[in-house]
Amino acid sequence: MLITLEGIDGSGKSTLVERLRATLADLDPVITREPGATWVGDAVRRAVKERADPVTEALLFAADHAAHLDRVVRPALEAGRLVISDRYTDSRYAYQSVTLEGTIPSPLSWLEALHAGWTLRPDRTFLLILPVEEAMRRIGDHENREHFESPEILARVQSRYLDLASADPTRFVIIDALKEKEEIHAFVESAIRRLAEWSRTSRRS
Ligand code: TMP
Repeated sequence: MLITLEGIDGSGKSTLVERLRATLADLDPVITREPGATWVGDAVRRAVKERADPVTEALLFAADHAAHLDRVVRPALEAGRLVISDRYTDSRYAYQSVTLEGTIPSPLSWLEALHAGWTLRPDRTFLLILPVEEAMRRIGDHENREHFESPEILARVQSRYLDLASADPTRFVIIDALKEKEEIHAFVESAIRRLAEWSRTSRRS
């Protein structure tokens, strides 16, 4: 069972992942992330920091995904484990479809073609949504802001996420990230428990 968590910077995803790590320990999940689950993540971070051109950046994020699938996700799924990934392919579809605009004619189609045939579709994706002003407030005013962390970019990224969700409503669960952190955590935790139980019983039958 592959579960992914998505949302713009400042949506509270990292807090949610840490809480899930603590409370789902009895299910022994593999909790992982993109970028950075393998050494390719270092190259991605460098490309982002040095403001590489958007094609280089997109290809490195995709390479990070390939290594993540090969080294972490596929082996865990083959061993019957529950995998929870903090960001996954939808991050590319949402962020890089914005950053590649003006460089490539149809960024989303290009990105989908780049992933076709080798990526794995998540069973469920929890998408945190919140007003961009609130996300910016939460990100704060730190100097090392990534270039994605501007209100204009994040607004467009979030609207891409919502387009992805409406194109695939059975996979996406949209979450109001303005709700209390405890409430969000309790909801996602119980949804994951139900999915894990369902996956266990359907494997047995
Ligand atoms: P993080 O804040 O979750 O560590 O992610 C780092 C940044 O990279 C975040 O601003 C989102 C961005 N990102 C992409 O642009 N494309 C991707 O495919 C992924 C996984 C992340």
